[in-house]
This record gives sequence, C-alpha cells and structure tokens, in this order.
Amino acid sequence: MDDVDLDAKVAQRAAGRPLEHVLGWAELCGVRVEVDDGVFVPRRRSELLVREAARLVGEATSGAPVVLDLGCGSGALGVVVATLVAASGGTVELHAAEIDPASVACARRNVRRIGGTVHEGDLFAALPTSMLGRVDVLVANAPYVPSGEVQFMPPEARDFEPLVALDGGSDGVDVQRRVIAGARPWLAPGGHLLVETSERQASLTRAAFVAAGFTAHLVIDDDLGACVVVGRASVADPDASPRRPDGADAP
Ligand SMILES: C[S@@+](CC[C@H](N)C(=O)[O-])C[C@H]1O[C@@H](n2cnc3c(N)ncnc32)[C@H](O)[C@@H]1O
Repeated sequence: MDDVDLDAKVAQRAAGRPLEHVLGWAELCGVRVEVDDGVFVPRRRSELLVREAARLVGEATSGAPVVLDLGCGSGALGVVVATLVAASGGTVELHAAEIDPASVACARRNVRRIGGTVHEGDLFAALPTSMLGRVDVLVANAPYVPSGEVQFMPPEARDFEPLVALDGGSDGVDVQRRVIAGARPWLAPGGHLLVETSERQASLTRAAFVAAGFTAHLVIDDDLGACVVVGRASVADPDASPRRPDGADAP
C-alpha cells in the first residue's frame, strides 16, 4: 500500500467508515474473510456461536456433516465453522443462504473458496428441497435489533450496514422466530440449530425454540458479551423427518 492509499484509508476511517470496510476484510477466530461495502461486518461475539457449532459438528454421525449458515452476510460464520472443523481433521458440506444481493456476491467469494455453496433468497425458500432433512448443524445470526432501537446504534452500523442486516422487528426477534419455526424439516435427526441473541432477548429466543418443539439451552460467554441458544431436534420426532415446508412429504 503506498502513502496515497494509506492516507485515503485513514481519511475514510476518520470519517466513520468501519475498519473492516476500509480494509476489505474481517477476522473471526483467526480466519480472514472478505467484507464488501454495504455488507454486515462479522462481530467478535459470534466466535461463541462458531465454536459451539464446530464442536457440535464433531458430534455428528454423518461422514461429511452438512452445515447451513442462514442469513450469512459475508459468509463468515459458515467459513469459520468449516475451517475450525478442518483444523481438527474433519470436513463439512457447507451451505449458506442470504437475501441481500450485495452480501450474496461477497459470500460467494468467501464460501466458494472453501468449496461451499451460497443460495440466494428469503431464509429457507432459498434452499433446494434436496437439503430437506440433511442439515446437521444450522447456524443463524439473524438481525435481532428491535426496530425502534436501530436509530440508537453506532453510526458505523446505521450508516454502513444494510437495515435488513440489523432490524429484527418490533421486539427484535421476528426473523429469529421465522428461522426457528421453519428449521425442523431441514434438520437431520438429532441435528442442532444455533441462534445468536442478546442476554436481554434470550428468553424470547428460547421461547421460540420451545414453541417449535426443540429442547433448547442457553450458552453465554461474558468475555465476548455473547449469547447463543442451542436447540436440538429430537431423534425420534416424526416432525423432524424430511417434509417440504408446505407440509407435503419430500420426494
Ligand atoms: C446480523 S447480520 C449477520 C450476517 C452474518 N451471519 C454474520 O454474522 O456476519 C444478518 C444477515 O441476515 C440477512 N437476512 C435478513 N433477513 C433475511 C432473510 N429473510 N433471508 C435471508 N437472509 C436474511 C441480512 O441480509 C444479513 O446479512
């Protein structure tokens, strides 16, 4: 980087542009992912979610467990899970899905680099039906800021990240509820769903898991300021068998 480039980047940062957008990358668990302008910057607290997910991938019985990162933004969470699993000698079949076109383009570069696939669309509607009943570990860091609180977020988020990545509806849990309510047909028997939330909203998030028939528990890391609800689809639960989202049996 020459002095002119450096001066330009310092000026952008001084003007409030997130460091990760200035540099074009972010780091999570020591793994670097590209982050384009207008794409959600992965947060350090999500290291709790990815570490828990990588641990649960290790418990999966299938040869190459299927990991799905729903609302993937840059694709960071799935990429880091796959990288952590690979570091301990394992492998995953990685899928990610996202509704925002700029994020999809960014995620495709990050996820394809490690052999994964990015699907574009609204939550589960983005996915091929061939994935029904096959997902061993589903991770979601869906937007969870209550609509009325977005205006109080730091300008770095408000001005440089898309509203669709931040706004979680009136109590912040609307998108999470959709993820949790729609997850079970996609999960393999005994599969896990992990949803990042805040301590303040954890009881709402957990209630959504219980309403959807999961056994669920909360994992908290005070150092990271992180909170994740982990749910497990019952192995014997007939509702967990492959079905189309409209209720019809899958082919
Ligand atoms: C809080 S950001 C998290 C991004 C990424 N998972 C991460 O942690 O870096 C939420 C992401 O969910 C995406 N999203 C919001 N609503 C969605 C929907 N209905 N379908 C798919 N993706 C959605 C947003 O575009 C955004 O990229």
